[in-house]
Amino acid sequence: MPLVPSYIESLQPYQAGRSIDEVRRAYGLTHVVKLASNENPLGSSPLATEAIRLAAINLNLYPNGGLDLRRVLAEAYDVKVENVIAGSGSEGIMSNIMRTFLCDEDEVLTTEAAFIGFQVLAKSRGTKYRTVPYRNWAYDLPALAAAVNDRTKIIYLANPNNPTGTLFTRQEFDEFYKHVPERVLIILDEAYFEYARDNPRYPDSMHYRYDNVITLRSFSKIYGLAGARIGYGFAHQDLVANLLKIKLPFEPGTLSQAAGIAALGDKAFLHRSLEMNARGMKYLRESLMDMDVTWVESHANFIMTVWPSEDQAAQVVEDLLQCGIIVRPLKAWGLPGCVRISIGTDEENRECVAAMRKVLAMVKV
Ligand SMILES: Cc1ncc(COP(=O)(O)O)c(C=O)c1O
Repeated sequence: MPLVPSYIESLQPYQAGRSIDEVRRAYGLTHVVKLASNENPLGSSPLATEAIRLAAINLNLYPNGGLDLRRVLAEAYDVKVENVIAGSGSEGIMSNIMRTFLCDEDEVLTTEAAFIGFQVLAKSRGTKYRTVPYRNWAYDLPALAAAVNDRTKIIYLANPNNPTGTLFTRQEFDEFYKHVPERVLIILDEAYFEYARDNPRYPDSMHYRYDNVITLRSFSKIYGLAGARIGYGFAHQDLVANLLKIKLPFEPGTLSQAAGIAALGDKAFLHRSLEMNARGMKYLRESLMDMDVTWVESHANFIMTVWPSEDQAAQVVEDLLQCGIIVRPLKAWGLPGCVRISIGTDEENRECVAAMRKVLAMVKV
């Protein structure tokens, strides 16, 4: 179509995980478990849902562009409000980053099979998108540093990474950073920060601020607010000031902002979510090991499995769907032999493992 630029026409739209309703209908099932989108299986912070109810009184008024949340975060992290941005999920902020900083001749650099939301956004601008292969399913930071050229404008690093769940250390980042010119913007996506932060190998980027690094965080995971679309970021005030010129003036919405602020204060929910995730991760690891399924050590709320072939990966996904278990095939990300499983409640994890045992037994017969 002549109206559409070729780089848009050739894009594949973001494909979200299949919904419970869709799978129920398609497979004629009554009970379906969704372990496909790294959502919080405990639901949402109750303080957040109560805050949404209270904030609804003011729905006739325009929101204040995330200022209340920015103030709370600035106080909590001992930075200035000018260093904080809030948006419609961390993806909303990523989208603004693309629009604010990328020019036609610029290039984006990241790992192969990076978070698919980022892939879609980065390619939507029509600029060149370059990748470096994983090393042991983790970012190959030395190779990324070596791949920087005169046109590189944005480097995207997720820590922990989605879909592999791996992390890089402070030392590895520092070594990488030495080789990156200051004119390059590094996006440090920490959507899964809370799951990893107690790991001594995990570097909290709030402890090492650089002028060309923007940290992104999300309320969609540990706080269970994926449906509210609320995320935030920290960066040098000049970066934030320019992002604010591009951001839709009234995002995030009133209810989302209120939910985010309340969720930050809900330590009990955070704690319960972490405990359940740690228990589920241990159980899934042990069960996968027992079933001889290859998996990658993960520091987030999901685990990536690796299958001998693309066909086998696709078959497992399909067979699990027939049993009412939705997991995430990673073909669209560029990893056709891999399947990601989100950690669920104890009961959901048990159901997933039972279905997998059944499916694998059928394959082996
Ligand atoms: C690495 C990564 N970044 C960002 C996001 C999106 O977060 P949000 O819901 O805040 O846009 C996700 C969601 O899966 C993710 O895995």
